[in-house]
Amino acid sequence: MKIPFLDLSRMDQALQSALKDKFAKVLEEGRFSFGEEVLTFEKRVGDRLKSPHAISCANGTDALELALRALTIGPGDEVIVPAMTWVSTAEVVLMVGAKPIFWDTDGWGLLRADWEKAITSKTKAVIPVHLYGKMVPMAKLMAKAKKANIAVIEDAAQAFGAFQDGKATGTWGDVGCLSFYPTKNLGALGEAGMCLTNLKDLAEQIRLLSNHGQLQRDEHTLVGRNSRIDTLQAAFMNVLLERFDEFQGKRKKLAEIYWEELAEIKELTLPPKAEDSNLHLFVIQTEKRDLLKEFLQSNGVGTAIHYPTIVPDIPVYQQEGDFSNARKLSQNGLSLPLNPWLEEKEVMEVCGLVREFFE
Ligand SMILES: Cc1ncc(COP(=O)(O)O)c(C=O)c1O
Repeated sequence: MKIPFLDLSRMDQALQSALKDKFAKVLEEGRFSFGEEVLTFEKRVGDRLKSPHAISCANGTDALELALRALTIGPGDEVIVPAMTWVSTAEVVLMVGAKPIFWDTDGWGLLRADWEKAITSKTKAVIPVHLYGKMVPMAKLMAKAKKANIAVIEDAAQAFGAFQDGKATGTWGDVGCLSFYPTKNLGALGEAGMCLTNLKDLAEQIRLLSNHGQLQRDEHTLVGRNSRIDTLQAAFMNVLLERFDEFQGKRKKLAEIYWEELAEIKELTLPPKAEDSNLHLFVIQTEKRDLLKEFLQSNGVGTAIHYPTIVPDIPVYQQEGDFSNARKLSQNGLSLPLNPWLEEKEVMEVCGLVREFFE
């Protein structure tokens, strides 16, 4: 592939060296679980996002599951989930024995504003997903959830670093869940995740659940599991976090090229520019999605589809309902390459090919 969708082996030399140095340091110290690097990572993320409790864990899916368990959501309970998301959001609801109730999204994959119509006497929580990096309008959602007395778990896996009304993604709800999967905006060199919360008791519960129910070694106060972050991943994250703003800046610059160069194509809908958005995925929409994908592929350009099937259409999650916006996005959405390792001239080349396709 001439212009890959994402090739992490393109990381610049300075970053590679800093990561190698960090690896050497951790190896020398010989500490691979807990330790200073983990504490530093949690403190840095907590400070940056103004979250009093930042609890690292093994991955973003676990973060969601830990949040549900800490909120004692389980059999007999319902949780409202957008129809368009990565499966984890619904998967964890089933994993704790509760039932996901799917609701349609708007045209860009954010939970449709009338989601409260899905509330029943069994509803315990709603999980807004800040899809592609764009935030769900949180003040309105929080007001509705409060009125209905249900919990809010933000799935902020794709939106690290986005703010709305001065408040970071993941810090609005009862719990905010982050993923540091390698392809994310802030990605580890492996798996990692985090729960954010303003609530001390909930934070304690999440910490216990993620470490066999123990705060002190061999004192098990509840039945938990192991979902600890690797010290090595926390150490790498401490390096990567330092470059986060720079990488967002680069993504922004590249996205501006797409917005400018593709603006005139009538058969193409570009993602809205939004203040409360980070730049994670640049998803365009066209009815000729599959043909365009094929055309770009045959010209050496990698693209991706996030996601080709809405969750309630996947047989193991099957559910009936009006999911027309989400389904349309799954049929028409195409993610163009957007990452800090791309050159501006490569993005110009992608734009040229997209224009050529529509001409
Ligand atoms: C919206 C969403 N939720 C949850 C997850 C789960 O995160 P992880 O892959 O770290 O388990 C992801 C990322 O894969 C995601 O994109």
